[in-house]
Amino acid sequence: MRITLADLQKMKAAGERIAMITAYDFPSARIADRAGVPLLLVGDSLGMVVLGHDTTLPVTLDDMIRHAGAVVRGSETALVVCDLPFLTYASEADAVTSVRRIMQETGAQAVKLEGGAPILPIVRRLTELGVPVMGHLGFTPQSQNQLGVKVQARDVVGARQLLKDAKALEAAGAFAVVLELVPAALARAVSARLTIPTIGIGAGVGCDGQVQVWHDLLGLFEGKTPRHARRFAEIGKAIEAAVTGYVAEVRAGSFPTDAHSAKMDPADLAEALDAEAVLN
Ligand code: KIV
Repeated sequence: MRITLADLQKMKAAGERIAMITAYDFPSARIADRAGVPLLLVGDSLGMVVLGHDTTLPVTLDDMIRHAGAVVRGSETALVVCDLPFLTYASEADAVTSVRRIMQETGAQAVKLEGGAPILPIVRRLTELGVPVMGHLGFTPQSQNQLGVKVQARDVVGARQLLKDAKALEAAGAFAVVLELVPAALARAVSARLTIPTIGIGAGVGCDGQVQVWHDLLGLFEGKTPRHARRFAEIGKAIEAAVTGYVAEVRAGSFPTDAHSAKMDPADLAEALDAEAVLN
């Protein structure tokens, strides 16, 4: 049985913090699911950490569908949320078409949309149609060309707008909202004023849950780790060491050994080679 929206609501009410993580493929989903992660996000961060783009903007609906399908197949318990990629929900009609494809072709249970006031009618429409919607406020990567990659809502006007947008998303039917790169005190205040869970990333410990990108958490991403991320392991280095060892053993002829190789009756081989001699 998968986690439900009601379960998440209960976790918020009980003050039980929610750990969400991104997943992009079958094996990562399986590991996260077994580790007890209740919420898996097939984020459009896929564009950067898996597909090698600089931003999330080139990610297509087909990309999301391919990866979300794998994450759903790899998980049994977690609720799977799939990001709607850039400009695939610019109108209500576009949003409905995109969500229909995501939910029917992948089996994901929910979708995430970025933005506040401008997307409220879309969130309302989708939730009326029975689609669980997660909001995303603060730094919204699909608008990074307007916003810049930086902490949002630091001043009075920005903070008021964020609070207003969060409440409006809740009223429109969102079941949770991601707060990304928002001052911790503001995120805590927003979390206290909402009945739905807030999931923070770079928004402090006062949120109802946290989300981290798989590659950041596991040390699979080259370059500078964002301030809000912590490497809980150095899997990238472990993989590099393993592959280096493999290359060295292939070069040295020490891999594969007899134990890794199929056997044949030597008499059969001799006979076959005799036949070859006859043929040649
Ligand atoms: O795409 C993503 O991974 C996200 C998280 C950073 C919240 O939206």
